Amino acid sequence: MGIIEKAEEYAKKKYEKNDSSHQWEHAETVRKIALELAKHFDKIDLEALNLAAIFHDIDYSSPHLHTENSIKVAEKFLRENEYPEDKIRKVKEIIFSHTTHLRKQFGEAKLTEGKILYDADKIIASLEPGKDFSNLFYFDESRELLKKFIT
Ligand SMILES: [Fe+2]
Ligand SMILES: [Fe+2]
Repeated sequence: MGIIEKAEEYAKKKYEKNDSSHQWEHAETVRKIALELAKHFDKIDLEALNLAAIFHDIDYSSPHLHTENSIKVAEKFLRENEYPEDKIRKVKEIIFSHTTHLRKQFGEAKLTEGKILYDADKIIASLEPGKDFSNLFYFDESRELLKKFIT
């Protein structure tokens, strides 16, 4: 079994502890949209993007700290599976980029994969009635994709 399959198996169970809007289904949808967006860019680390999407909301026990806590869960899992340290660092950075309050506090995402995960998560959030986060998107491609969903 590859690392992505292992992560899926592990994450599916763990997401069950979360509230109804942060279940495994959410992670899966964000991941699908992220992979769709990734098609528009060169040299995307798809493995890192997949793993970051899988783990991005995995610990929602404390909503305001869910990014930091989810990073810890990802790090522990990846270490236990002997995933290389430099790649773990990348996955952590991508997960870190997905929240607006951390973006405001620490600045724009540096990795394209981080921007993609952010936009994918905000595309989903924009599908809620009365919500529109398209002004925050990093990419025009994300605006195009959102349009496809709502029309
Ligand atoms: Fe999140
Ligand atoms: Fe999310």
